[in-house]
Amino acid sequence: MIAREVIDDIVARNDVESVISSYVTLKRAGSNLQGLCPFHSERTPSFTVFPGTQSFYCFGCNAGGSVITFIEKAENLDYVGAVEFLAARAGVSIPQDGKQAQPGEIPRRRIYDMNLAAAKFFRECLFDPAIGGEGMKYLSQDRGLSSATIKHFGLGFAPNSFGMLHDHMRRLGYSDEELIKGFLCGKSQKTGRAYDYFRNRVMFPIIDTSGNIVAFGGRVMDDSKPKYLNSSDTPGFKKSRHLFALNFARNHAAETMILCEGYMDVIALHAAGFENAVATLGTAITSEQARIFAKYTKKVIISYDSDEAGQRAANKAMQLLGEVGLEVRVLRVPDAKDPDEYIRRHGADKFRRVLEGSRSGFQYKLDGILTKYDLSQPEDKIRASNECCVLISGYHTGVEREVYIGQVAKQLGLPTEVIKNQVENILRKRIREKKAEEQRQAQATIRSVGDRINPDAIKDVQAASAEETILGLMLIYPEYRSAAADGSALVVPDDFFTAFGRRVFEEIIRIHTSSDGYSAPVLEQSFTPDEVGRLQRMEQRRRSLAENGPSVFRTAIETLKDAAERRADRDNEDIVSGIASILARKGKKE
Ligand code: UTP
Ligand code: MN
Repeated sequence: MIAREVIDDIVARNDVESVISSYVTLKRAGSNLQGLCPFHSERTPSFTVFPGTQSFYCFGCNAGGSVITFIEKAENLDYVGAVEFLAARAGVSIPQDGKQAQPGEIPRRRIYDMNLAAAKFFRECLFDPAIGGEGMKYLSQDRGLSSATIKHFGLGFAPNSFGMLHDHMRRLGYSDEELIKGFLCGKSQKTGRAYDYFRNRVMFPIIDTSGNIVAFGGRVMDDSKPKYLNSSDTPGFKKSRHLFALNFARNHAAETMILCEGYMDVIALHAAGFENAVATLGTAITSEQARIFAKYTKKVIISYDSDEAGQRAANKAMQLLGEVGLEVRVLRVPDAKDPDEYIRRHGADKFRRVLEGSRSGFQYKLDGILTKYDLSQPEDKIRASNECCVLISGYHTGVEREVYIGQVAKQLGLPTEVIKNQVENILRKRIREKKAEEQRQAQATIRSVGDRINPDAIKDVQAASAEETILGLMLIYPEYRSAAADGSALVVPDDFFTAFGRRVFEEIIRIHTSSDGYSAPVLEQSFTPDEVGRLQRMEQRRRSLAENGPSVFRTAIETLKDAAERRADRDNEDIVSGIASILARKGKKE
């Protein structure tokens, strides 16, 4: 738990509007601000920031809370991690007695320091001919990297030894446990001893946008497998949240970024002057990463390997990047397996020309369809036209569809009307299917598979709704918290029907009566970000209603108690009717 004063200080130093606006483009709407939600895909803004209460809420996906919960979600951190992140952003440090680390958990800062020390070790090894001669030869001769590029990326060499890094790090004061948890060492099954995880590999540090080394990738220098070893995901590091070289590329990204598959592609591109190139960390691009792109740039040129796997991955990337509103282009390097090889063979100027000739996502897919068919054959033409119409119907604005309809009609030599009608048919069918799907989902929610956060709610909807009224009012107004805490409101934890409602009630009271007093960000510490979103929903629902006076609070408490009685009666009835039926059966026998 982090102390109240620390939390208050961090929240005060990180204004919710200024923090969130570096993730989301916000527009003023009355006294609040609105933008496109970073946590789900949407086209019309339902994400709202409330400077007055220093909170945010998305009316679309129910994400919400203070600036701390925002950072938990946006940076994929836990509560403590988010507080540390915000402290660093504000340039303050958290007093160590301000928080107690979870047992067995290593502070993020400690891992970053450890990684930095390891990166220095790897670099020294690379530049020491007796140890890293082979690594240096590989990088400079085989891969053509200059000494400046090697230094720029902080590349290194992990010696062919099970203990050199380990011994070095132990001398610096890092424990086996820390080295193992940080993925610099593995743990021997037999002896339980720590041994170096990366051996005889050239090392690529993965650096986040704050300049922390968060992980490593290590490549073999021959054709052996696995080609790369990577640090695994930890609570503090998720591959799906990072992009290799984003720390450099973000400063060259205002207009365009280039997305590659491999570390080596990115390094070759940067060395050739394309410093806006990044790569995912050996995994397919995620929607989280797509949103990172949207944060920094307007247009992404996908420059994947030219093999079939690369092209398939490009299709997926195109979709995800398009969904966050980016302009997407796809590049296919002619006669080279990847951008790295192309530049090595043909030079930077030629690559620049290929970049300029990159096709729009639409043209790329259209070419893919058209080359499959022999358009002089009527059947083929029909199939091609069908596929093209399905493709066009996937675009969301009427203008886009209009433009592409014209283009396809021309390329197929068919009247525009024909293509247009077909696209409209497909769209109508989609809308019908979507409605049916929404109905199915609504049904599913009614049957209560839906409410993961408060699974009890469905068992007594009226009681659950009264609970939300009570808690919503307590979340907003201190006088209701006091009335509940001092007993004058005549409501106790046992009145609560759902386990979630009861826990919220108890936490509010606990914090309200603690010596530090109540504060919303402190309350959030006891709940997951999803649960905090639910608390926000309760608050927002109350705020949207005109009447929030004491009679509303009282009535809700009565409703809750009545509901409890009703349930008790029903249970009694069940017992009584059970007895009655037993007696009835007995009566028949006698
Ligand atoms: P590539 O095989 O295209 O690697 O994998 P590359 O970076 O272009 O390397 P070179 O040119 O062959 O030296 C693309 C990315 O996939 C991940 C790495 O992030 C790599 O950069 N990868 C690949 C792994 O994580 N593990 C592997 O075994 C292979
Ligand atoms: Mn490659």
